[in-house]
Amino acid sequence: MMPNTTSTTPLIELRGVHRQFEVDGVVLPVLQDINLSVNPNEIICLVGESGCGKTTTGKIIAGLLGQSSGEVLVGGKPREQYTGPERSVLRRQLQIVHQDPFASLNPAHTIGDILSFPLKRHKLVKDRADLRRRIWELLTLVDLTPPGDIVNKYPHQLSGGQRQRVSIARALTVQPKLIVADEAVSMVDVSIRVSILKTLHRLKDELGLAIVFITHDLALAKYFAWEGRIGVMYLGRMVEIGPTPDMILNPQHPYTRALMAAVPEADPDITRRKKHIELRSDEIPRLSEIPHGCAFHPRCPQFLGGKCDVIVPPLLPVPGVTQTVACVNLTPATVGD
Ligand SMILES: Nc1ncnc2c1ncn2[C@@H]1O[C@H](COP(=O)(O)OP(=O)(O)OP(=O)(O)O)[C@@H](O)[C@H]1O
Ligand SMILES: [Mg+2]
Repeated sequence: MMPNTTSTTPLIELRGVHRQFEVDGVVLPVLQDINLSVNPNEIICLVGESGCGKTTTGKIIAGLLGQSSGEVLVGGKPREQYTGPERSVLRRQLQIVHQDPFASLNPAHTIGDILSFPLKRHKLVKDRADLRRRIWELLTLVDLTPPGDIVNKYPHQLSGGQRQRVSIARALTVQPKLIVADEAVSMVDVSIRVSILKTLHRLKDELGLAIVFITHDLALAKYFAWEGRIGVMYLGRMVEIGPTPDMILNPQHPYTRALMAAVPEADPDITRRKKHIELRSDEIPRLSEIPHGCAFHPRCPQFLGGKCDVIVPPLLPVPGVTQTVACVNLTPATVGD
């Protein structure tokens, strides 16, 4: 079983994680040198443009994918060292909720069945009465009430938002310590998004869950992870990570700055006053042709020739701020150039 973690032991830690895929004989470096730890009861948002590696990172965290190199520590111990029953307990503790609940909920089963299977398979209930009690409890936890109206329905009889709540309830059946929510509200109506995010927040507080929230929507990240951290990814690397308010109000990396400048605010006056940051190019390079040096340099408004196109910047603390940033122009004291 995952060792009892103290408040200083991360639930999961990625150290120098690389992941590559081979497509038609071409090796794609989808993740490079990812260092990320998730603490118990913490919210971390991973943001970045399509294809930057958010889902791949989420799958590695949830144990659905292995790393090509680097280390993944769970509860302070390398994941490979968990064997037998320990390994299955571990798998239960790290759950993922996908974007499309229609694809992940079996249409032939009722919601009651969908929740029963993992509860029975993992022997998490004593008898039928206990099973019913637990299903009622889970549906109530995710605000699908009254449970009696839901339990005998099939997925297609529910709304998109309700289906996503069922997916969350199913992830909760096995009493996880961490949930990866991968674009979990992207497919539901805007009006329902906020209420699902509120439910997730409440679950974090009531159950002590950690949540890795993956989104390409920075406004959502800001709203959902205000008390947590945001990690910004670009072409398979983490370029900046830090506490959400600092990431939003005082972004450091030129890419984060450009992303933040584009986030609409509730107050249209603030949105109008925001300075738009012009990138040198809007084109995202292909993974098969990652630029030399800093992968962002062909687009970076602060590009310095002979430096940015040569040095691969490591993620380092920037003096005077809380974030760690991968930009040679911001961490000159610590990068030998
Ligand atoms: N199994 C795979 N085989 C080959 N390439 C893959 C595989 N899985 C992911 N990729 C590639 O890795 C890159 C990163 O994919 P990933 O799904 O992690 O990105 P993402 O940040 O989640 O993007 P999105 O915002 O579109 O969901 C993409 O270019 C994708 O095509
Ligand atoms: Mg994705």
